[in-house]
Amino acid sequence: MLDKTGRRIEYLRLSITERCTLKCTYCRSDEGACPKRAELSADDFVRIGRACAALGMNKIRITGGEPLLRHDVEEIISRLAAIDGISEIAMTTNAIHLPGRARALKEAGLARLNISLDSLQPARYAQMTGGGDLACVLAGIADSLACGLLPLKLNAVLMRGVNDDEIDDFINLAKQHPLDVRFIELMPMGDNSDIKKRIPTDEILAARPWLKPLPPRHPGQPSADYGAEGFVGRVGFISPISHQFCGECNRIRIMSDGMLRPCLGKNSELSLLNALADVDDTTLLETIRTAVYEKPSGHAFHQEGFTPDKTMSRIGG
Ligand code: 5AD
Repeated sequence: MLDKTGRRIEYLRLSITERCTLKCTYCRSDEGACPKRAELSADDFVRIGRACAALGMNKIRITGGEPLLRHDVEEIISRLAAIDGISEIAMTTNAIHLPGRARALKEAGLARLNISLDSLQPARYAQMTGGGDLACVLAGIADSLACGLLPLKLNAVLMRGVNDDEIDDFINLAKQHPLDVRFIELMPMGDNSDIKKRIPTDEILAARPWLKPLPPRHPGQPSADYGAEGFVGRVGFISPISHQFCGECNRIRIMSDGMLRPCLGKNSELSLLNALADVDDTTLLETIRTAVYEKPSGHAFHQEGFTPDKTMSRIGG
């Protein structure tokens, strides 16, 4: 359906858990390894998926926290994939728990994966993630490529003085493998002391004039894609701060606590819990319809004093 500014909202990001075993400072607050908040059930997610499909949404991305921590993730995927009108189920994961599971996820109906990876150096990866094992992530990537979960996208959040010496190593991955490596500009969503470390996209591109723009894979995708002679994959830049793309935003977010967040960079949220307590979907449909229609026209990251009231790990990216 269209929101009141005329944008076609057709993409649901569904966070199925806030739990994550990693502790990347820009993504979450230090509240212990696994917050114990109630999570919606697979049945709730399926009702939400059906309601969103009835309102014209056709793509669902499963996010978290870390979605692979839900033991019923394959069930959730297969039931969402079976909904009339839903043409693609994707997932964003840190891939720590991915090795050996890619085939089952694909068989459940998963079309493709985005994998969060901020360093290719084992010690640095462990340091940035609070103990993550890079070998697991790399095995998960190999497993996904072998199963044909394509195009596979890697998300790297760059921070000056932390991992910016690896920009060319990441770009090299796209040269050699069928991967889209995407650099995401740091957003103020977790430990905001990191924010001074943001690296604007234009700075990276200016130093690499041999990267040439490519047409987008999909209209309205958030990344601006680049390639170069001899590259198998692509290099993408997601620049919510330096090149705001809210005018093309096509998504809403619904989280495992039952809240619907129409805009990542605005604090307004609406609860679906009362609607989900009803046996029929009338109120659920009406609540989502209103939230979509009223979606803010743009994020507030630039506004003086704006502080998100939830971390990225709770919202799901
Ligand atoms: N700024 C930019 N990207 C972030 N992500 C998580 N937190 C932030 C942040 N503060 C990224 C993750 C994941 C994607 C969904 O969002 O690395 O890949």
